[in-house]
Amino acid sequence: MKPIQVGLLGIGTVGSGTFNVLERNQDEIRRRAGRGIEIAMVADLDTARARSVVGDKAKVVSDAREIIANPDIEVVVELIGGYGIAKALVLEAIAAGKHVVTANKALLAVHGTEIFKAAAENGVIVAYEAAVAGGIPIIKALREGLTANSIQWVAGIINGTTNFILSEMRDKGLDFDVVLKEAQALGYAEADPTFDIEGVDAAHKATLMSAIAFGIPVQFDKAYVEGITKLSSADIRYAEQLGYRIKLLGITKRTDKGIELRVHPSLVPAKRLIANVEGAMNAVVVYGDAVGATLYYGKGAGSEPTASAVIADLVDIVRLHDADPAHRVPPLAFQSSTLGAAGKELPVLPMSEVVTSYYVRIRVSDEAGVLAKITGLLAEAGISIDAVLQREADEVGGEGSTQTDLIILTHDTREGNMDDVLAQIQGLPTVLAPITRIRKEELN
Ligand code: NDP
Ligand code: HSE
Repeated sequence: MKPIQVGLLGIGTVGSGTFNVLERNQDEIRRRAGRGIEIAMVADLDTARARSVVGDKAKVVSDAREIIANPDIEVVVELIGGYGIAKALVLEAIAAGKHVVTANKALLAVHGTEIFKAAAENGVIVAYEAAVAGGIPIIKALREGLTANSIQWVAGIINGTTNFILSEMRDKGLDFDVVLKEAQALGYAEADPTFDIEGVDAAHKATLMSAIAFGIPVQFDKAYVEGITKLSSADIRYAEQLGYRIKLLGITKRTDKGIELRVHPSLVPAKRLIANVEGAMNAVVVYGDAVGATLYYGKGAGSEPTASAVIADLVDIVRLHDADPAHRVPPLAFQSSTLGAAGKELPVLPMSEVVTSYYVRIRVSDEAGVLAKITGLLAEAGISIDAVLQREADEVGGEGSTQTDLIILTHDTREGNMDDVLAQIQGLPTVLAPITRIRKEELN
């Protein structure tokens, strides 16, 4: 049978990996898929660079719409990125009856509802394994492998750039700004690393996992997003002394009141496997009611690791594109007819309703009664203390210092409750600087 004809839009980092891996492993991939997969056309703004990758094995064009207009092309792979031209091209490809593979988490997290609706109306597949945690098959695991479970929570290190920065801050005791420059020099962080360090990229991925874990619509606008830019090496050190590591986690959790969807730095017990995921690696823990906790670990970015996921989607399309759309794996794991109802039952909760525990660092005057006053306010709010660490004043502020850091770990409480009590503590005359508050996840 003639290989399925694929058109590639954008042949940069992931596109070139996809072309090269498909070339290198095409015999094995054909045996698995039952049919060959051929990238017949490639569109890129830089046609000379595209030709240097594909040689004479594919037709290179500068206008992506030439690919969409070609009736021989059955699958379009969008690897341009962003919300602009990528969104237009994906919707045009769907309207032209072509299946789509994309690694574009930003596009799907923000415009997923519109894109999946268009795909359903046109009877085509939109596949996106590479959009979450690069080469780790977490979409496959959530949608298929764990389909028997009522998923309780998902927590992941799903941004390699920030995990690299946090690992370096901990290993070398360096501050955020210094390590960010190092990450840029090494090519981990973009020249404009805003989406990574502000948590937006991780929130795009957490949003997609939340939808497929709980059968709710894709709702990036409801995600709570906090990055790592305000973390200090002192907090990383204190956390270590208390038996924790600080990681940027994407968390989505089922509760009685609704769904938590949040990205922020979190203290994680150092003994957890996920706390030991270092450098640019990714890891996701999924807790299902039947299976318990499962952990997925690997490269979340890079040319060939991400290509691995893109090609897995192409193989799925070869296997399933002839099937009645009703018999394919639903793009968001649940049959679309059930999504609206589930969305009504399970709202995404505002951050004030999230229940978690906390690390709090308070710079105080080193005088009698200060700790008692603070713990008294916490007790009045019904917040139970898990541990307290007080540093020597000399260690914190130098010899003869009259200031010290109080570090308090709490048990679970509602975030709104914590906000109220922290506002009261901040107002005490003995509290000398803005309070640092980092959430803590036991992940047990
Ligand atoms: P790159 O910037 O390396 O590649 C994008 C390519 O698209 C470039 O060659 C660019 O050309 C080309 N392009 C831009 N506009 C057009 C257009 N209108 N028509 C045709 N080609 C165009 O990006 P990546 O490969 O890194 O990322 C691609 C997607 O994969 C993104 O959505 C990204 O978020 C996602 N992703 C990336 C990962 C990674 O490790 N890099 C990991 C997981 C997901 P030019 O350079 O000339 O502008
Ligand atoms: N910027 C992302 C990261 C790339 O650092 O993980 C992969 O999505």
